[in-house]
Amino acid sequence: MADVEGEVIEESEEAEELDAEAQARRRLALAQIRQYGDPVLRMRARELTSFDEDLERLVARMTQLMHDARGVGLAATQVGILQRVFVFQKGEDDVVAVVNPELTERGRELETDDEGCLSLQGVTMPVERHVRVTLEGRDPRGKDVRFELEGHPARAVQHELDHLDGTLILDRTDEQSRKAALAVLRPRPILAATP
Ligand code: NI
Repeated sequence: MADVEGEVIEESEEAEELDAEAQARRRLALAQIRQYGDPVLRMRARELTSFDEDLERLVARMTQLMHDARGVGLAATQVGILQRVFVFQKGEDDVVAVVNPELTERGRELETDDEGCLSLQGVTMPVERHVRVTLEGRDPRGKDVRFELEGHPARAVQHELDHLDGTLILDRTDEQSRKAALAVLRPRPILAATP
């Protein structure tokens, strides 16, 4: 998928085709998602041990943010919560949350495609991923779940799992694409408050 959030996955569809209200919702959602340069994006998230109402609220918030931001996946790390949970678009109307996710099988076939990321706005870059993976973990109530995924959803969960380990697509792309992306990401000015 190429168009994404960019994450191609995480992340997004064509923003220019959204109506004004959807664009406003997208901007509000993106403002709540941690952006490149935020150190939390480089930290490893911790396993969850309790499946409580806080977790259900977190998952509901992440699902709404992903939807509003027009993404196809979102990891808790991206909202500043270092817990191992992400949401992803498994099918057209099927958003799934996975807690303590693990890839238990990886198919041999690899494919390179452009990915974007809701935390790296304005850039996409080629990333090689497994075409087929098996993902296991828990649902937000603690029940075991297992998904055999192929194509876009498989790419999305590999991207989101990376977020939980502090890995970004910048670490997964080729040197030239990384440099080009950094040239776009780095110049963001920091607005200081005047005394
Ligand atoms: Ni991302």
